[in-house]
This record gives sequence, C-alpha cells and structure tokens, in this order.
Amino acid sequence: MGLGGVALTVALLAIQAGVIKVYYDTKLAETGAPAATPAALVNTTAAATCPAYTEPTECDPAKSPGIEVLHEDARIFLYRSFLSPEECEHIMKLAEPNMARSGVVDTETGESKVDNVRTSKGTFLQRGHDPVIAGIEARIAKWTLMPVGNGEGLQVLKYEEGEEYEGHFDYFFHKEGVNNGGNRYLTVLMYLNDVEEGGETCFPNIPAENGPEFSECARKVLAVKPRRGDAVLFHSIKPTGELERRSLHTACPVTKGVKWSAPKWVHVGHYATAGEQAVRIEQVTQTDLNYPDCKDGNESCQSWASSGECDRNPTFMIGTKEAPGNCIKSCNKCADFFEFKAASR
Ligand SMILES: *[C@@H]1O[C@H](CO)[C@@H](O)[C@H](O)[C@H]1NC(C)=O
Ligand SMILES: *[C@@H]1O[C@H](CO)[C@@H](O)[C@H](O)[C@H]1NC(C)=O
Repeated sequence: MGLGGVALTVALLAIQAGVIKVYYDTKLAETGAPAATPAALVNTTAAATCPAYTEPTECDPAKSPGIEVLHEDARIFLYRSFLSPEECEHIMKLAEPNMARSGVVDTETGESKVDNVRTSKGTFLQRGHDPVIAGIEARIAKWTLMPVGNGEGLQVLKYEEGEEYEGHFDYFFHKEGVNNGGNRYLTVLMYLNDVEEGGETCFPNIPAENGPEFSECARKVLAVKPRRGDAVLFHSIKPTGELERRSLHTACPVTKGVKWSAPKWVHVGHYATAGEQAVRIEQVTQTDLNYPDCKDGNESCQSWASSGECDRNPTFMIGTKEAPGNCIKSCNKCADFFEFKAASR
C-alpha cells in the first residue's frame, strides 16, 4: 500500500486517541442491556475443534469450528487457532526488520509524531505479500464474508513491556477517511504469540466481570487474552450504517513479556493499493435517510458523542426545541427535533 494509506491510518488513530478516553457507555448500563459473555468464561481447554488453518480432511468435520460469540449484538467473535503456529512465526519474521515506532498525527498541526497514547512498534505488509499472507487473507475473507480486496495490507504490531494503546475506534471520523473504499467496516485482530501477562484487548463500552487471571485493566469490561493464533473479529459499523460504539477498544499494557499482534482492517468497499484507482464511498445511514434535515453543527460531533459528551454536556450537545444543541444527530436525538420521513427510493 502507499504511504498515503499509512498516514491516513495513523492520523485517525491519533485523533481518536487524543480525544477519547476509556469510559463506560452509561446509556448501555442504564437500559440494562444484557451483559456480554464474560471472556473469562470461555473455556480455553475445550479446544476440541478444527483449527481454521487445517484442511477438512485433517480434522473431524463433525467437530465444530473454534468460534466463540463474545457479543451477539455488537457482533464480536473470537476464533481460536485461526492461524497456525508456523503462520504466526512467518508474519513476525517478515515484519521484524521493518518495525518502526507507531506514529500518531498531531491534532493541531497534522504532522506525524510519536505520542505516549500509542507506544508500540509496527509495520505494514502489502496485500498478497506472499503465498502465506495471501492464504491468510483468503481465509479472513471466508470468515468475514468480505472480499480480500476490501482489506488494507496487514499491519503487524509489537508491544514491549509497559506498552499499550489507549481507547480508540478503528472507524474514521474525519471526512477524508472515506476517500479510499469508504470507512472501515470490520477488524480482524490476530495474536501472533502468547503473552506472559497483560496485553488484553478490551472493549470498554461492554461491561463484563473477569477473573484474576486478567490484568486490572481488563477486569470490568469484555476482554480477550492474547493467545498465539487466536483472532478477534469486531465491527465498527452497524448493519444500519451507523457507527458501532461498542467497537471502542484498547490494548492493555503488557506487564510481562512481549506481544505481537496483526490487525486486518476491512473497508465497506474496495481498498485501492499501488496502481489501483481509489474510490470515495459516502456512508448513508438510516438516520440520514429518515431525518434528512437533522445535521451535526460541528465535524467533531461524532467523536465528542463517542467519548460521552452527550451525557456530560447535554446543553451544548443536544439542547432544547427553543435552543437546539450542536450535535443532535451524533447524540441520536433526531427524532426529538425533526419529523420522520420514511425513506423512499
Ligand atoms: C473445559 O473443557 C474441558 C475439555 O472439554 C473440560 O474437561 C473442562 O471441565 C471444562 N472446564 C470448564 C470450567 O467448563
Ligand atoms: C467546531 O468546534 C471547535 C471546537 O469547539 C471549534 O474550534 C470549531 O470552530 C467548530 N467548527 C465549526 C464549523 O463550528
């Protein structure tokens, strides 16, 4: 992929990381939405399943595939042994010589910089880099039901002791974010090694109870312990086209050992790489269709809403009929202010 793609990716992560802190979605808690399956209850020893990488002939097809549903409604899944140990080794070996400190972009100057919200090192592997990578990408397509061409090149990350990545969305909030293949639709996050302690992937907007085998950072929210070959699939966009707020995620600090992971970002449309024509794809949500007059008053509304501002600062964000606020749309209050118009096509 081109450098532009890398810069874009980094820019989003930086903007989000700069604004968003780990928080509970208070609304979710208030409405008493069903709690997620605590990750601690997933039985890691019950791995009598066919790993994804085996051929059907190598494994008893009567045994179920190793997929756990971690959250049905937010569509978060854990696939045990998605990668073989050899594939994990291969990816780490390819990436090692090119690892550079993961950057973020200064929210004011737009320049790339190093920031302590993101302390890992990383690199990208081009889509279809070699037959092994192409094979993994084909398998991701089978699992996610999304074409290989919608994916960015595989990113490979290395976290040393103490390194982390604070709460962020993979979803792009800035307008330029949809210039190549539209927004990011889903992420497949693969773990390449076993981590001695810490380094869990957490979803702070999904309350859960986890046991003492999880680090402090991961006790109260849906969390996944990194294990070699396992992969987590989560969606940044709902089927209705709206942002999936429960895709907010963090990488807990690695407290012992190192952690290697590889996220694959998959867009709603084709993601152009070297020599291909990039196509911008606008996202039309149900809210856009049914409340066409409902608009946000500031580009930062979605990002503010996602960090809990609708609850903390309702006068500015939502307001009243007499004095409407600035972010009615992002606060999901269009129905209180505007007439419903059934979308007709
Ligand atoms: C986990 O699975 C193994 C193998 O199927 C079983 O022996 C064990 O009792 C299970 N543990 C729990 C806590 O369910
Ligand atoms: C959006 O909000 C920021 C921060 O309050 C402000 O600086 C900016 O001018 C606003 N943009 C618009 C278009 O109102």
